[in-house]
Amino acid sequence: MSRAVAASANGQPDAAAADALARDAQQLRQAAAGQAARVVVGADEVVERLLIALLAGGHVLLEGVPGVAKTTLSKVFARLLGCEYHRIQFTPDLLPSDVTGTSIFDRNANDFVLRKGPIFTQVLLADEINRAPAKTQAALLEAMQEQQVTVDGQTLPLPLPFLVLATQNPVEQEGVYRLPEAQLDRFLLRVEMGYPGLDAEVDMLRLHGRPAVDVDPLATPDRVLSLQARLPAVYGTDSLYRYIVELAAATREHPDVSLGASPRAALSLLRAARARAALHGRGYFTHADVQAVAGPVLGHRLILRPEAEIDGRRVGDVLADVLGRVPALETV
Ligand SMILES: Nc1ncnc2c1ncn2[C@@H]1O[C@H](COP(=O)(O)OP(=O)(O)OP(=O)(O)O)[C@@H](O)[C@H]1O
Ligand SMILES: [Mg+2]
Repeated sequence: MSRAVAASANGQPDAAAADALARDAQQLRQAAAGQAARVVVGADEVVERLLIALLAGGHVLLEGVPGVAKTTLSKVFARLLGCEYHRIQFTPDLLPSDVTGTSIFDRNANDFVLRKGPIFTQVLLADEINRAPAKTQAALLEAMQEQQVTVDGQTLPLPLPFLVLATQNPVEQEGVYRLPEAQLDRFLLRVEMGYPGLDAEVDMLRLHGRPAVDVDPLATPDRVLSLQARLPAVYGTDSLYRYIVELAAATREHPDVSLGASPRAALSLLRAARARAALHGRGYFTHADVQAVAGPVLGHRLILRPEAEIDGRRVGDVLADVLGRVPALETV
C-alpha cells in the first residue's frame, strides 16, 4: 500500500502523525534490540513482542521452560523503559494483600494508614505467576483489567503506563495453579521463549565470560504514554478491519475449537497489528502485520474440543488452518 492511499482514505487519517509515531517507535525498537542483546542473546523477536504489548497498552504472559532467561529479559526490558519497576515472586503462600497492599495501624497518627503493595508501579514483573493460588492471581488480574486496585475498601488508580510481564513455566505440573482460561484473556499477548539456537547459545557462553553489563534506559514514562496515545493514528483500510473480524469468526466456526476468539480478541489483534507496523517504521498496517501477531494474540485464547486434543491437534494447527483459509485480499 502506498502512502497516498493512507492520506486519502476516509476517516481523516493523519498520515503525518502516523509517520512521526512510526519513526519514534522504530527507533525505540532498534535501540531496545541492541541494548537487550548485550545481556540476552537471540531474543530479538521476544523483545519486539514485548514492545508490541507496550505500545498497544496490553500485558504479556511470558512462557518458557526453566533457564531460557525469562526473568533476566523481563528485568532488562523494564530497565530499558526507564519506568518504575517492581518484581513479585509468586509463591504458594503469597496473599492477595502481598500484591495489592493493606491498611496498617499507625500509632503516631492513631489511625489506619494504607500501605501500598508492590503492584503500585509502572512495570510489574509477576514472576512464576502460576505458583500462587487462584485468589492471589485474581487480585493481580483484576488490577490489570481495571487499572485500579481496591485495598480495604479504598479504590486507588494504578500509575501509568502500567505493564505487567508475567512469567510462567509450562512444563511444571506439580504444585502449580494453572491460570484459568478466562483470566488468560486479560493478557494481550502470550510470548513463548524457546532455546536461543546453537550459534546464539555459543554467543551466550562467550557473553557470560565477560564482565556483566548494565543496560541504559532508553525511554521515559512520558515517551511510552505518548507512543500509546498516538497508536490509533496507524492507518488500516476497511478490508483489513474485515480481515481481522473474519479471522476471529473463523476461529469460532472451526470444528476443533470449543471457544473461539472474542470481540476483545479482535480488538487486541488490531492494536497489536498497529503496534507492529509502527515498530517497523510504518504509519499503516498490512495483512502481514495481522498474520504476524495472530499467534501471540490468539494462541492463549482458543480452547480446543477435548476430542481434537486427544487426536493430537494443537492450537497452532488451528491458527495455521484459519490463516490459510481466510483470504487476505485488498479490496479497496
Ligand atoms: N539467551 C540467553 N542469553 C543470555 N543469557 C542467557 C540466555 N538464556 C539463559 N541465559 C542465562 O541463564 C540463566 C538463567 O536465566 P533466568 O533465570 O532468567 O531464566 P528463567 O527462564 O527465568 O528460568 P526459571 O524458569 O527457572 O525462572 C541466567 O544467568 C541467564 O543470563
Ligand atoms: Mg525465572
